Amino acid sequence: MKHTGMMILLTAMSIAALMLFACANANSVKEAGVLSSPDAEEKQRGKLEAGDELSQNDKSDERYNVQITDGKLGGMTKFETVPADEDRRIKDMKVLLQEKMSKDYSEGQTKRDAHPKSLACLQAEFIVEPDIPAVLKVGIFEFPQTYPAWVRISSASPKIQSDKVKDLRGFAIKIMGVQGERYKTQNEEEKTQDFILVSYPIMPLGTVKLFHDAVYYSIEWSPLVFLFRLVVSGNFHIINELRKMRQNQTSPLDIRYWSTTPYLYGTNLVVKYAIVPTSNIESVMPSKLTDNYLTDNMEKHLAVHEASFDFMIQLQKDPDRMPVEDAGVEWSEKESPFIKVASLRIPSQAFRTREREELAEDLSFSPAHSLIEHRPIGGINRARVEIYRFLSEFRHKQNNKQLIEPSK
Ligand code: HEM
Repeated sequence: MKHTGMMILLTAMSIAALMLFACANANSVKEAGVLSSPDAEEKQRGKLEAGDELSQNDKSDERYNVQITDGKLGGMTKFETVPADEDRRIKDMKVLLQEKMSKDYSEGQTKRDAHPKSLACLQAEFIVEPDIPAVLKVGIFEFPQTYPAWVRISSASPKIQSDKVKDLRGFAIKIMGVQGERYKTQNEEEKTQDFILVSYPIMPLGTVKLFHDAVYYSIEWSPLVFLFRLVVSGNFHIINELRKMRQNQTSPLDIRYWSTTPYLYGTNLVVKYAIVPTSNIESVMPSKLTDNYLTDNMEKHLAVHEASFDFMIQLQKDPDRMPVEDAGVEWSEKESPFIKVASLRIPSQAFRTREREELAEDLSFSPAHSLIEHRPIGGINRARVEIYRFLSEFRHKQNNKQLIEPSK
C-alpha cells in the first residue's frame, strides 16, 4: 500500500514536471521514416551504455587549445564529445515539436513551444565591470562599457497558465550594439549577445538523449510512458529535480537564475553563467496568489525602484566533476565560486503596454546569438542552436511576421 501511494505521488508530480518540455498531447505524430523509437534505435546500434555520452575525450592540458573543426553542426570545440546519433535525435525533436506547435496553435496565434507566457519584457542596461581580472577580459567583457538590452521574463510551461501554478521561470537577456566576430552556426543576428537563464541551477534532462526521449515519449505516447522509463531505470533523482525546479516565487526580480548549460569563454576557458539579484527592495508574497501576481509584483517594484542583478561566471575547474556534456550536473560553487563580471540594471519603468507585449512575441532568443568567444557548447546547447532557429522561424512564419533584430 505504502509503495502504491508513493508511486501515485511520484507519478502526479512528474506529469506536471514533464509539462515543462512537452505538452501532454498523446496524439501520434506520424512522420514515418523520420521518427523512430529510441528503443529500436538502440537495438540497431547495440545497447547504449549510460556513460557513453558523458565521457570527455580529452583530459590533457592540450584540451585548453581549442580547435574548432567544421563539422555538420558548425564545428565542435575540443571540450565537446558528440555521440554518433545526436544529429538524428535533434532532427527528430525539430519535427516532433513543430508538429506539436501546428496542433497547439492556429495560424496567426502561434506562441513559443516553450516559455510561451511572457511575464514582462523589460528595457535594461548591461554594464561590463571595469576591474575584471586580465585573464577574464574576453569578448563582450574585454572593455568596460554599458550596452542597451532587452530582458524577456517567462514561465516555462508549454501551456499558458496562472502564476499560481508552480513553475520554472526564464530570464532571457538580449544585449545590443555588440561588436566582434560572430558565432556562425544558425546565428542570423549581427550585433547581439543573448544570455538565456532559468530559475534553477541545472537542466535535469541534461543530455540530448534524455531530452529527446522525454519529447518523443511525451508526444508520441504519453508523459507517463517517459516517467515509467525513468522509474524502471532507477532515475528517481531526475524525477525529483523536475519537481524541485518548479516553485512559487515572490517576484522574478527577487531570485537567482542560471544558464545550466556551458559556454566557451575566449579560447581556453569554459563557463556557466548566473545572475544574482541586488535590488534594494524585495516583493512580498501576496496572501492570496492570483493569475498574474508575478507581473503585478514586478509592476509595483518597477513603478518606484530600479531592479538590478550581478552577472556572474563560473569557471570549469574539472572536466569530470563539471562536465560539458551533461547539463544535469551542478557545478560545485564551493569548488568554483561565481565571479562577477557585469551588472544588469533594469530602470524604473512602466512595461505593461501593447508595444512591449508585441515585442515579447516578436523577439527571438538563442544561445547562437553570440560572439565567437562566448559560443554555446555541450549537447543540449548544440540541440538548442538548431531547434530555436528552426522553431522561431516557423513561429514567425505562422504569424506572418519577419524575424527581427532590435538595435535599441
Ligand atoms: C534540448 C533542450 C531544449 C529544447 C528543445 C528547448 C526548446 C525551446 C524552445 C522551442 C523555445 C522557444 C524558442 C522560440 O520560439 O523562440 C525555448 C525557449 C526558452 N528556453 Fe529552451 N529548450 C531546451 C533547453 C533549455 C535549457 C537548458 C534552458 C536553460 C537556460 C532553456 C531556457 C529557455 C528559455 C529561458 C526560453 C525562453 C526564451 C525567450 O524568452 O524567448 N531551454 N526553448
